[in-house]
Amino acid sequence: MKDSKQKLAAGSRQLADKSGKPADALIEAARAVRRHARAEFSNFKVGAAIETADGTIVAGCNIENATYGLTVCAERVAMFKAISDGHRTFRRIAIVCEPHQPTPPCGACRQILWEFGGDIEIILANLRRETGRHQLVDLLPQPFDKRNL
Ligand code: THU
Repeated sequence: MKDSKQKLAAGSRQLADKSGKPADALIEAARAVRRHARAEFSNFKVGAAIETADGTIVAGCNIENATYGLTVCAERVAMFKAISDGHRTFRRIAIVCEPHQPTPPCGACRQILWEFGGDIEIILANLRRETGRHQLVDLLPQPFDKRNL
């Protein structure tokens, strides 16, 4: 059985082969919205931009608060904004933060992206360059969703 690092690497290879579509506008939207992040507790600013099936880009940043626990990640803000605007089908999401190493979405965001977006493409980037691509199913194998209810 593949370990998780091998599986992530396999996921990005597969994705690069499958898509390879430039994501410059999507990444730029995530970089731009990241500037609105409210991250005064962690100082870790994140921006996310979702591309819907009709090509609309909906962006969101992380929002922290003094109780810490009510923090909402950038990916979920972007997805909830998109859903609230009436979008229902999604192609991919770009996620931008500062570190040089790829920073994949947290577990809670993987779950929400899966339930509302299905197996979308996850594009990781920092302030200067793209750092990785994955299919969501490779980041969330054996997901729990409405099929289990
Ligand atoms: N964060 C995100 O916005 N997305 C993730 O997938 C990981 C974490 C935010 C939450 C918190 O505001 C800060 O990064 C540090 O965890």
